[in-house]
Amino acid sequence: MSNLLHGVSIGNVELPCNLFLAPLAGYTDKVYRSICLKHGAALAYTEMVSSEGVARGSEKTVVLMERGEGEKNLAVQLFMPDADTAKRSIEGAMAYNPAIIDINCGCPVPKVTKTGAGSSLLTHPKTIFEIVKVLVKGTGLPVTVKIRTGWDTNSLNYLETAGYAFDAGASAVCMHARTRSQLYMPTAHWELLKDLKSHFPDRMIIGSGDLFTAQDGVDMLESTGIDAISFARGAIGNPFIFEQAKALLEGRAPREVSLQEKKDAIMEHLRGLVDFLGDKTACREMRKHVCAYLKGIPNSAKVRQMVTCALTVSEYEDALAQLG
Ligand SMILES: Cc1cc2nc3c(=O)[nH]c(=O)nc-3n(C[C@H](O)[C@H](O)[C@H](O)COP(=O)(O)O)c2cc1C
Repeated sequence: MSNLLHGVSIGNVELPCNLFLAPLAGYTDKVYRSICLKHGAALAYTEMVSSEGVARGSEKTVVLMERGEGEKNLAVQLFMPDADTAKRSIEGAMAYNPAIIDINCGCPVPKVTKTGAGSSLLTHPKTIFEIVKVLVKGTGLPVTVKIRTGWDTNSLNYLETAGYAFDAGASAVCMHARTRSQLYMPTAHWELLKDLKSHFPDRMIIGSGDLFTAQDGVDMLESTGIDAISFARGAIGNPFIFEQAKALLEGRAPREVSLQEKKDAIMEHLRGLVDFLGDKTACREMRKHVCAYLKGIPNSAKVRQMVTCALTVSEYEDALAQLG
């Protein structure tokens, strides 16, 4: 089992292991990325950042590229409809000194796909080639590409899109093993990750889809032969998943996470958000995270209810005190 856990290189970026935090809009801000890195993630992607917004210098957009505390290798995910937009965003993105640029070819949201970006790019794989080429040349950084298996089950073209990405110089391809039409629901098709790896045995393939527990991560690495995995929904409210997966891959039983550790993680997360966003916004933002942290914890309904109107750190402390 231990050979499934290993260091990896993405271009010239050397990473201590192959367990990553996936890009998650609304979740993987600099505060949560730092927490996950502290708990054993080797790399953490920003949420998707609009290249158009970066090119225009939009404050709301560029703040998403700020580096987190202790974040050595900042991996910025950009979305754009074409190579020209990608090119116009290079200067703005480079100002944040990223180590890796990722291209979003998987977002299924109509607001994004109707502009030609996100998973809409899967229907124009040559555009992916052009975008990768422009970003590799213009940034000099390793570029990774996040795809889905295809637009729908009648157009599974992951081998083609990955081929274009690698031909254009991509250092890795991450595949969310669902089509755009499948959104996030039916079971992910891990067998397609295995197929992708078998077609590109010498290229770095990262897997995503249905990694809800540490054991799921082990199973994906074992059953597909891919190089690395990225936890997404499984990491929301559970930064411990990285150390748990590491333990399993090292043949150790994962440590039980105590209630106190969860409470400490929530408060650390909240305080980080307060520094980043100010009290009110942080307390609002934190509500969704708390619900995830407390999932499955007995008698936590009252806490969840209390935080829905909490606007200060001390209100959060009071709410968590209910748990004993
Ligand atoms: C709330 C949410 C936000 C997401 N945001 C992004 C994003 O910004 N960029 C991206 O490439 N994928 C995004 N994804 C997709 C995830 O990175 C991941 O590929 C997907 O959730 C499948 O993994 P899972 O089944 O283990 O959650 C998002 C998913 C969710 C649920």
